[in-house]
Amino acid sequence: MDYSPEYGGIIYKVASMARQAGGISFAGGYPDPALFDTEGLAQAFNRVFRESFRVALQYGEREGHPPLRARLAAFCSTASRAVAAEEVIVVNGGQQGIETAVQVLTRRGDTVFMDSPVFPTALQAFHLAGLNGVSVPKDADGLVPEALEALLRTHRPKLFYVVPSYANPDGSVLAEGRRRRLLELAVEHRFHILEDDPYSRLWFDAPAPPSLLALSGEVPGARDWVIHVSSLSKLVAPGLRVGWMIPPPALRQECVWTKLATDIHSALPTQHAVDHYWASGAFDAHLPAIRATYGARARAMHGALVDHLGDRLAFAAPRGGMFMWCRMNRGGDARDLLEAAQREGVYFVPGIAFYPRSPDLATFRLSFATTPEDGIVEGIRRLARVIP
Ligand SMILES: Cc1ncc(COP(=O)(O)O)c(C=O)c1O
Repeated sequence: MDYSPEYGGIIYKVASMARQAGGISFAGGYPDPALFDTEGLAQAFNRVFRESFRVALQYGEREGHPPLRARLAAFCSTASRAVAAEEVIVVNGGQQGIETAVQVLTRRGDTVFMDSPVFPTALQAFHLAGLNGVSVPKDADGLVPEALEALLRTHRPKLFYVVPSYANPDGSVLAEGRRRRLLELAVEHRFHILEDDPYSRLWFDAPAPPSLLALSGEVPGARDWVIHVSSLSKLVAPGLRVGWMIPPPALRQECVWTKLATDIHSALPTQHAVDHYWASGAFDAHLPAIRATYGARARAMHGALVDHLGDRLAFAAPRGGMFMWCRMNRGGDARDLLEAAQREGVYFVPGIAFYPRSPDLATFRLSFATTPEDGIVEGIRRLARVIP
């Protein structure tokens, strides 16, 4: 890969610049802290302090707090793919699930396929593991199966990394028929699919297509090839560091051992609190408010882009998640654009952060998650002053 950690690091640099300088930030991949249910979570933590603090302070089960695993299994179960609590491993955010899968399945020099643009912290894990990253072309419906088939004639990937629903950075959604085809190809060519799914519950008007995990129950042989990773970072709060992975049975034990070697297990007081939070009904009650808030912001951003930049940028209406992906019709380098935008007090992430190689420099990512609608409209108006 030509990827350098410096490219992905641009995100943190721009986000921290925006925090220090003030202004309007479309930069971070952070959820809006105003949406953290601090009251509900405080009650849940208080219940831990009152009822199970001594137990939660001791070492616990490596795979995670059993009642939380049962909840996560139910959360991910569908008619076609029932998930048992024993299949779930609680991890420190989805990122640890990605890293665990990389450690278990790959060796230096192996090939990893990914659709691109791609989430840079996953790229970072692939880069550190010395993997050879290959981009599979995407269109409006996600990765293009024919392009994947062509690449499979010349490469033997160990892993296909994909964010099928409301991807970071481009908000794309992999169409259901293509999900099935990807599963068939994984069975036929014997590669694992690393399904990274932190955003699928953040849909706006209609739910996302079934996950690859769910569809793996319908495609013969596919259950053995899907590693599902997800997280409460975008649904509850990222500081909790609660994520989970559901590997196929043959990989489960090695995933547990790998996680054990890394950190023994994830922090138990937090897992107890999240379990209580869920049991109280507050999680289910709060999720629609997050969807509604992000949905309204996404519509505001899309509308402002159509009004002020429709002739100068290419972009698609977001259907969920936190991001819009833009490309300057006249080309150019979004890093130069960022410099001009900064002078207007607006921040975003240039596209170079999101490619394993050959970045499309005219692209950039806008997050609509943390800025209320009036700020979004003002920010897009200011961007319109500097985009050629
Ligand atoms: C696509 C994707 N995967 C994984 C993560 C990691 O999230 P966490 O480790 O907080 O669950 C993120 C965070 O931004 C993400 O966008």
